[in-house]
Amino acid sequence: MKKAWGGRFSKSSEQWIEEFGASISFDQELVLEDIEGSIAHVKMLGKSNIIPLDESEQIAAGLHKLKQKAEAGELQYSISEEDIHLNLEKMLINEIGPVGGKLHTGRSRNDQVATDMHLYLKKQVLVIMEHIKELQSALLNQAEKNVETVFPGYTHLQRAQPVSFAHHMLAYFWMLERDYGRFEDSMKRIDISPLGASALAGTTFPIDRFYTAEQLGFSSVYENSMDAVSDRDFVVEFLSNSALTITHLSRLAEEIILWTSKEFSFIELDDAYATGSSIMPQKKNPDMAELIRGKSGRVIGNLVGMLTVLKGLPLTYNKDMQEDKEGMFDTVHTMIGSLKIFTGMIKTMTVKNKEMESAVNQDFSNATELADYLAAKGIPFREAHEIVGKLVLTCIQQNCYLLDLPLDQLQEACSKIEEDVFVILSPREAVKRRNSYGGTGFDQVKIQLEKAKQLI
Ligand code: ARG
Repeated sequence: MKKAWGGRFSKSSEQWIEEFGASISFDQELVLEDIEGSIAHVKMLGKSNIIPLDESEQIAAGLHKLKQKAEAGELQYSISEEDIHLNLEKMLINEIGPVGGKLHTGRSRNDQVATDMHLYLKKQVLVIMEHIKELQSALLNQAEKNVETVFPGYTHLQRAQPVSFAHHMLAYFWMLERDYGRFEDSMKRIDISPLGASALAGTTFPIDRFYTAEQLGFSSVYENSMDAVSDRDFVVEFLSNSALTITHLSRLAEEIILWTSKEFSFIELDDAYATGSSIMPQKKNPDMAELIRGKSGRVIGNLVGMLTVLKGLPLTYNKDMQEDKEGMFDTVHTMIGSLKIFTGMIKTMTVKNKEMESAVNQDFSNATELADYLAAKGIPFREAHEIVGKLVLTCIQQNCYLLDLPLDQLQEACSKIEEDVFVILSPREAVKRRNSYGGTGFDQVKIQLEKAKQLI
């Protein structure tokens, strides 16, 4: 089979070597971007009198035809054409004849593939951002319904202080807000056209890079042709932003997995997001949450893989860079799938308010309340801490909680304690009184909710 670059070769590779070098099995995902880039390029060639206008139009028409076929899933790719670029060039020539061979004037696969990748990520990052917003809305919704749902807040996975469940949900809202911001910011560096850098050095033809950039909807062009073809920072950045986002998802996934266990019993997942066991009839497993926790592994792996490919690569294009694609595609699919599933899971989960509240009535997470109460009465906080610590120990020995101690026993520990302590010690009161800015107090959570809503 004759190669597009076969002129200086007298011998061809065996099929298995060709297969190893080919990228068509995966870069066909760039088919529409590649055609779009070619249409812009050939229009520019015609407009700049680099090729006759009628030929440019003929080529553009052929490309439009290929686009229709691509959308209908009618294109047949072949390994011997190596990649999406050469496959399409061959198809174009078959479609319109030898004039199709003029398309590649003043262009290289190096700026072509970089252009495809920029176009692809520009689209996909927007889709991912949309999905982040949807997940944020789902969290916001659960938060709105649960401002006054009190449940244990943890540090070290030990009961710490009671909090509003809405506050917990909103913590993830803000995490995702930062993720959204990172993707949004990365757009500046995705939205640049490498087209016209040609192989690495620019071209002798009087091309118009600004025209093609405008045709393709890019805001600017690379200033340096060598940078243009060798830059994959925008891919690294995309993978890094994805890795951090899915790390956030995996943290919430872990909490959901814990919360659905009998030990916590704080939420129940909708049946659609759980599965059973083939042997244990009672099981309801939080599979989707586990899977997303697991998928963070491949997304982080894709980031590390890409950085490793780039490390030590000399300028400009190197075939190593063909390895930039599978991780990127995989990350796009994994992120969209995970975000969609997560949104549905959060939307449909049932919050068990009663179980949550009864949990905080059976622990020492109101101990800080008592220490604060004493500190407010003028006892140095460090001493108050010691007094309460001893009371907790007494409770443990007597197998009860702080609210079970009679007033005289409390007063024995500290004479400043009065009848009003019992109100202070109730977990609901503890949450309500944490009214410092950004705290879990119901009023603060409501303010936070309003701010969050304005962002959606
Ligand atoms: N399939 C190649 C890739 O994905 C396209 C660029 C090839 N360029 C070259 N000079 N061999 O990286």
